[in-house]
Amino acid sequence: MSQQTDPIGLFDSGVGGLTVMREIVKSLPHENLVYLGDTARLPYGDKSPSAIVQFSLENADFLMQQKIKLLIVACHTACAHAIEILQNTLPIPVLGVKSPGSQDLIAATKTGHVAVLATASTISSGAFQTYLQAQHLQVYPIACPLFAPLVEEGLQYHPATKLIAEYYLTPLKDSKVDAILLACTHYPLIAPVIQEILGPAVRLIEPARSLSLEVLELLRSQNLLNPGSSYPPEYRFFATSDPEKFCRASKIFFPLPIKKVLLA
Ligand code: DGL
Repeated sequence: MSQQTDPIGLFDSGVGGLTVMREIVKSLPHENLVYLGDTARLPYGDKSPSAIVQFSLENADFLMQQKIKLLIVACHTACAHAIEILQNTLPIPVLGVKSPGSQDLIAATKTGHVAVLATASTISSGAFQTYLQAQHLQVYPIACPLFAPLVEEGLQYHPATKLIAEYYLTPLKDSKVDAILLACTHYPLIAPVIQEILGPAVRLIEPARSLSLEVLELLRSQNLLNPGSSYPPEYRFFATSDPEKFCRASKIFFPLPIKKVLLA
């Protein structure tokens, strides 16, 4: 039986999911959090569906051992392939970035023409396209495999990133697309570059904030919100390889200093 003071668990393929965790910290400031970055098997974006399902189950298993009360799949690629499996397998609630992002996108578009930017594996899963086409939207799915490595190298404002972005976004230039889902943990960091190329009329959707409100609502409805008596909350970080590198790389993704990362 879960307790209010039990932590929420989050996992991602690496540091990128910290863009999701930072929104959770803002919306749920009293919650204890445990984050797992599967850095040993990063990136997920070019892996097969079966590998990603396997990794996701193992990550969830590790976090279950930390006695979490709710699991957040903070990786879009893992959500695209494994969210339903996790939801059907685990004895605790599981939320991910896929559904809040898609719902925000549907709410944002006026033309009914939308784009989804994501890793190659997320795009080839068809998960977002199927969901959005069922809402009668015209969907432009675009795989952007170079974005995540560019961000990880700290090159989000480098001219090379702008050139690559121009190339990826070419199909949208003369389209009616007016809303774009940034369906990858790293893309909020290059949102200004994408916005500059496509202009201010196009809405860029980052799902992390809506996800954090969904988490808040779910915990409240199950009487599992931490009342905050153990304030300040505890944030624990694990990586499946090279915790020092995780610490260094985390700086651009997370506003709070991360001093200790343990090997999972
Ligand atoms: N975290 C992944 C995602 O959101 C991007 C990085 C990777 O390819 O592992 O899809």
